[in-house]
Amino acid sequence: MEETSLLWLLFLTSLLSCSTNQACLTVSPSSSQLFKDDFVSLSCEEDDSSAGWTLRRNTSKKQRTQCGDEWGKPAGSSCNISYIDPLESGVYWCEYREGAISNMVNLTVSGGSVILQSPVLPVMEGDDVTLLCQTKTPPSNLPAAFYKDGSLIRKQPTGHMTIQHVSRSDEGLYKCDIRGHGESPSSWITVKSTPEITELPTTPVSPLVIRLVFHLVVFCPYFISTLLMVSLYCQTASGNDLCPSILLTQPEQGLNDEYDDVITDVTTEHHF
Ligand SMILES: *[C@@H]1O[C@H](CO)[C@@H](O)[C@H](O)[C@H]1NC(C)=O
Ligand SMILES: *[C@@H]1O[C@H](CO)[C@@H](O)[C@H](O)[C@H]1NC(C)=O
Ligand SMILES: *[C@@H]1O[C@H](CO)[C@@H](O)[C@H](O)[C@H]1NC(C)=O
Repeated sequence: MEETSLLWLLFLTSLLSCSTNQACLTVSPSSSQLFKDDFVSLSCEEDDSSAGWTLRRNTSKKQRTQCGDEWGKPAGSSCNISYIDPLESGVYWCEYREGAISNMVNLTVSGGSVILQSPVLPVMEGDDVTLLCQTKTPPSNLPAAFYKDGSLIRKQPTGHMTIQHVSRSDEGLYKCDIRGHGESPSSWITVKSTPEITELPTTPVSPLVIRLVFHLVVFCPYFISTLLMVSLYCQTASGNDLCPSILLTQPEQGLNDEYDDVITDVTTEHHF
């Protein structure tokens, strides 16, 4: 195999191992705030073993109740909530039969007439994030003011605001208001550090370096196994850390095939 593509596949492997086996809760529509009577679908991403899952929530009234039990309607790998109520605001998570727990998601349901549509999952450092200030009834795109941690940060004529290249300092409690309509609830936006894997040099690597790494790769199969095990262990142990943003780009079947190829290749190298 060509040296550079082998390297790429290795990096790809460690990326995929952090996403395919991750216990992950996703929300559609992907907004941390909803209006009373909105519809929302929450999905527990299942791992290959499909051991089963339970979607649970804590609200101010009741803790650890599960979907289908007084609230929500189980629908395949999702739980659908129709006509959601402000009392259903709270923290939602998936529990898997083998003990894994997904990321937690805060949902806030407003009985008022303005919401802030902000990312429901943590955003990656460097990403652009768009916040939308919305009224319950049209017209949309009304001028809105955005606040972070209680201070006005921007007034936008069209009701949406993009924070470019978010950094850790953008993390905080956001809300917005639209004159004559009211103020939205507040939502916390979490910013995650970029995993090291994407901090690879983008400039071409010198052929010498590639050769060097290639030789390391060929002569140290145990090194690779260790790396794989560590990365698998990491993602099991770190629970919800990497899940959200990576799973937003759902791994396709094709990628899974490539993943299998890599395993095969690495195994072959063992008999080298
Ligand atoms: C949910 O409520 C239970 C019982 O009060 C508590 O032990 C648990 O930490 C809560 N979980 C979250 C994610 O808030
Ligand atoms: C649940 O929501 C999903 C996504 O909107 C939809 O495709 C599905 O038909 C719904 N299922 C039920 C039983 O309501
Ligand atoms: C949920 O909201 C609480 C209170 O605002 C905050 O402390 C917590 O970090 C939030 N959790 C997530 C996963 O956003």
